[in-house]
Amino acid sequence: MAAKSKILVLGGTGYLGKFIVKASTEAGHPTFVLVRENTVSNPEKSKLIETFKTSGATLLYGDLSDHESLVKALKEVDVVISAVGGEQIDDQVKLIAAIKQAGNIKRFLPSEFGLDPDRHNAVEPVISYLEGKAKIRRAIEAEEIPYTYVCSNAFAGYWVSTLGQENITAPPRDKVVILGNGNVEGVFVTEEDVGTYTIKAVEDPRTLNKNLYLRPPANFLTFNQLVSLWENKIKSTLEKVYILEEQLLKLIQGSPFPSNFTLALGHSLWVKGDCSNFEIEPSFGVEGSKLYPEVNYTTVDDYLNAFV
Ligand SMILES: NC(=O)c1ccc[n+]([C@@H]2O[C@H](COP(=O)([O-])OP(=O)(O)OC[C@H]3O[C@@H](n4cnc5c(N)ncnc54)[C@H](OP(=O)(O)O)[C@@H]3O)[C@@H](O)[C@H]2O)c1
Repeated sequence: MAAKSKILVLGGTGYLGKFIVKASTEAGHPTFVLVRENTVSNPEKSKLIETFKTSGATLLYGDLSDHESLVKALKEVDVVISAVGGEQIDDQVKLIAAIKQAGNIKRFLPSEFGLDPDRHNAVEPVISYLEGKAKIRRAIEAEEIPYTYVCSNAFAGYWVSTLGQENITAPPRDKVVILGNGNVEGVFVTEEDVGTYTIKAVEDPRTLNKNLYLRPPANFLTFNQLVSLWENKIKSTLEKVYILEEQLLKLIQGSPFPSNFTLALGHSLWVKGDCSNFEIEPSFGVEGSKLYPEVNYTTVDDYLNAFV
């Protein structure tokens, strides 16, 4: 059997990155995590970093802005996954330059993990955000670096655990604000499953130079369906306030950051249906649950049980 690809994760100490590191070590890949030296002394992050070490991952010190550290880390591995955050999307050009110089990387997965930046109907400020991700795609393609772009749709931890409401950490029990008419389907994936599918894809020839969409069939739900699923679980009816598109667009324009960003994502998800409003053509994409039917993904139904 061929040896498993060696994987370098950037952003492993971030919200999503830790799930990718976990999936990588659990799948038996020699796993390397690029961390910034200062982060190791951060008490919150140091605990996480300890769990990486315990699980067998190797820490490498580095920074997106330190070219030599990137090249050195890249030379250790076959695959690089970036899970850097929104503020570092543009800086990934530095990683692309380092991958080009290292010359040994068989697959690069840039920080995407959301909507397809080439296929959406978003409004600002999400347009600019997705344009940043699209620019990184074009830079990767121009350098002819082998890639997979993971379009994971909406994280359950952001959109299901809150029922799409701002500033709460558990689904509401009294009132819910529904963006749009509530009849447009979104697609939800747990962060753990995003990690699992991402790692499955890294050395799969079927995902080479393709978009990997995560659309688990049981996790297509409209806002109304999501709310009614929750209502059935708590045996209670919520007061529903609908914000239709015209009003939502005004609200986005009048809101400060980050509210405008969250609302604009909600608009793309719940009003425009950007998670699933196009067919995945074989020329550009594949779908995770079809490629890896053995993954026992978490359904939204099961996910919500934890909050009852
Ligand atoms: N689909 C969805 O619902 C959804 C939701 C959230 C995020 N996302 C996407 O998921 C991706 C990851 O986002 P996130 O929220 O998980 O990110 P995050 O929590 O902000 O984590 C950022 C990571 O990047 C690292 N980093 C920052 N500056 C760096 C530098 N100069 N050099 C090296 N590493 C650096 C951070 O390291 P330190 O620990 O050292 O700071 C941290 O590990 C993004 O593309 C985002 O758009 C999608």
